[in-house]
Amino acid sequence: MIIIKTAKEIERMRLSCRLAAQTLNMIAPHVQPGVSTNALNDLCHQFILDHGATPSPLHYRPSAHNPQGFPKSICTSVNQQVCHGIPGPRVLREGDIINVDITVCLQGFHGDTSKTFFVGPPTPRNSKIVRVAEECLAIGIAAAQPGNHFNAIGNAIEPHARLHRCSVVREYCGHGIGRSFHEEPAVLHYASRDKGAKLLPGMIFTIEPMINMGKPEIRILADHWTVVTKDHSLSAQFEHTILITPHGNEILTVAEEEAVATNA
Ligand code: MF3
Ligand code: CO
Ligand code: CO
Repeated sequence: MIIIKTAKEIERMRLSCRLAAQTLNMIAPHVQPGVSTNALNDLCHQFILDHGATPSPLHYRPSAHNPQGFPKSICTSVNQQVCHGIPGPRVLREGDIINVDITVCLQGFHGDTSKTFFVGPPTPRNSKIVRVAEECLAIGIAAAQPGNHFNAIGNAIEPHARLHRCSVVREYCGHGIGRSFHEEPAVLHYASRDKGAKLLPGMIFTIEPMINMGKPEIRILADHWTVVTKDHSLSAQFEHTILITPHGNEILTVAEEEAVATNA
């Protein structure tokens, strides 16, 4: 069941999503050569607590392999890491790219956003994948219009990735979000003939295409979290949480007072 949020719930979602965006803005200038992913984690963790929220990834989804769940407060995915990278002692080097994925829970509601940053100046090698991934998110958001079906999103994203000889990861999807970190539906980023549900005003979900330079296949490392490209090609990702409105959509994960409305 896809939850349609009430006006009151939407107001709460605005607050959690804004805080997630503010956390990403806060961390941006710290993404520099010589900084460890642990240092980025600790700064975000403290910033989130200081704003009265909790980091949603911390202890998320315990399993037999990871009884404590995800061990850190943010995800940091470097170079060929696709998503769910665990912050640690790794020190960033010039020429790396790193996705920082922030999810906060504020007053019982989650907000989820991520960005891929360049470590040092962009290079010809890493700038293309980051640009294509950012374009794929924008194209997916543009397709998320009331009355469209969910497959309009992946049907718009995948041709753009392919046009640039990049590929779309299939195993991980966007998701509904609200009182739960991951709610229905799964938002596919690849083309599908299965239309899925119709987009209705009050639906809130993420779009977060993971775009690979090479082949779409992934592997999971022995830590049972970190997802990497099977062919070791670079991967980049951008994510927003969006609200479907009567006339279009609104990006909720923006740091400004005024959220961004896109009307069809
Ligand atoms: N923030 C990720 C997403 O976009 C999920 C991270 S789950 C974690 O859905 F446990 F790895 F943190
Ligand atoms: Co996320
Ligand atoms: Co997400």
